[in-house]
Amino acid sequence: MAKDSLTITDNRTGKSYELPIQNGAIRTADLRQIRTDEEDFGLMGYDPAFMNTASCASRITYIDGEKGILRYRGYPIEELAESATYLETAYLVLYGELPTKKQLEGWTHEVIFHTILHENVKKFIDGFHHDAHPMGMLVSTVAALSTFYPEAKHIFDAESRKKQTHRLIGKMPTLAAFAYRHSRGLPYAYPDNDLSYTGNFLNMLFKMTEVTYKPNPILERAVDVLFILHADHEQNCGTNAMRSVGSSHVDPYSAVAAAAAALYGPLHGGANEEVLRMLMQIGSKGNIPEFIKKVKAGEGRLMGFGHRVYKNYDPRAKIIKRIADQVFEVTGRNPLLDIAIELERIALEDDYFIKRKLYPNVDFYSGIIYQAMGFPMEMFPVLFAIPRTSGWVAQWEEMLLDSEQKIARPRQLYLGPAPRRYVPLDKR
Ligand code: SDX
Repeated sequence: MAKDSLTITDNRTGKSYELPIQNGAIRTADLRQIRTDEEDFGLMGYDPAFMNTASCASRITYIDGEKGILRYRGYPIEELAESATYLETAYLVLYGELPTKKQLEGWTHEVIFHTILHENVKKFIDGFHHDAHPMGMLVSTVAALSTFYPEAKHIFDAESRKKQTHRLIGKMPTLAAFAYRHSRGLPYAYPDNDLSYTGNFLNMLFKMTEVTYKPNPILERAVDVLFILHADHEQNCGTNAMRSVGSSHVDPYSAVAAAAAALYGPLHGGANEEVLRMLMQIGSKGNIPEFIKKVKAGEGRLMGFGHRVYKNYDPRAKIIKRIADQVFEVTGRNPLLDIAIELERIALEDDYFIKRKLYPNVDFYSGIIYQAMGFPMEMFPVLFAIPRTSGWVAQWEEMLLDSEQKIARPRQLYLGPAPRRYVPLDKR
């Protein structure tokens, strides 16, 4: 009769062990009983970059990489992108259920009324060079917020966590917009709480001398959908950083700074900026075959392609591609889209990419839209970090409240030198 267990025979000793299988996994700690003698530490699992390691149990996001499925708390990303707003989605990701009308009104009020920054934060931003990368400014200033809200250290006080959640979701767009305005040498545009979350973000970015900024509704909705698509993505590199740093029981602002720092990397959220640079470097459809040849020769990567989990088309990329047409009706067509579409067509027919199951990911098309909307490339990863804050905070809180979790402290396989004696300087 089939049993949910694994029987392992250690050929070094001839002993057999039965390990229970739960939720499609064994507990790696159960390997420790497999030893050759009393001195033996016991077996470990070795898994560089966690290619096949579940670091936690989570109820937030489900991805089926083979089928290209993404769901937040069971709701398909396609339905949320079609019918929800970002704040509604952030509530779902954080609290597990779609909000009622009353809950959404209360949630929206709390977030919108936490968009203002302490005036001293402007002094940090003013201190950056004019050409400072906005992600560097965002990582620094969100960490600095931990010094303005010392009560955030009370991480097991649910009311404090809720307050910091409102502040983080509310203030990330303001930090991002202030960083953008600084890089443009423009005066800061303060939040307008009569606008939507996303409309206010556009206001703080693009308001000029008009008394009241009026966001273009098509662009406002496009950014809101892009935010929905970026809200969470289970145990990606940035979220792993959030959980790992958060497991030391540091405040959430410092943990978000760590997560944003991880997202900044060109292999992660920084890829959308690299995609634009790649498309501009290719320059025209005619240059694509030569570029693909170089990638296949190992000279660089097709940025915006490939994913650790998706071995099929990233469902977010499909939705983003559809948004592009709506945005271009307002902004005019970005010619780089034609290069991107041709690059995708050629790559998807090429055995190198097919064999490695490399498909466009969320970063392949997002930058083209952002550029058409007037964002400089350096802002692209910032536009990723803002919505991902809801996922980071949700995963952080889930980790804190998970009785199985402790401070993250992996082990290693030591392959270094055997014990040896100190050699005096004059004897080396
Ligand atoms: C995000 O994890 C998440 O969920 C992240 C994210 C989220 O929402 O949080 O989805 C957001 O980070 C999307 C990914 C954005 N990054 C890029 O677009 C950068 C380009 N892509 C890659 O560098 C790569 O695909 C990764 C980093 C995304 C995934 O890397 P893996 O899983 O470690 O795969 P790998 O590097 O081991 O590659 C496997 C093979 C290798 O070839 P071989 O050594 O087998 O010959 O595929 C090749 C790689 O060289 N390969 C690529 C490639 N990506 C992988 N070759 C060319 N171009 C690429 N983009």
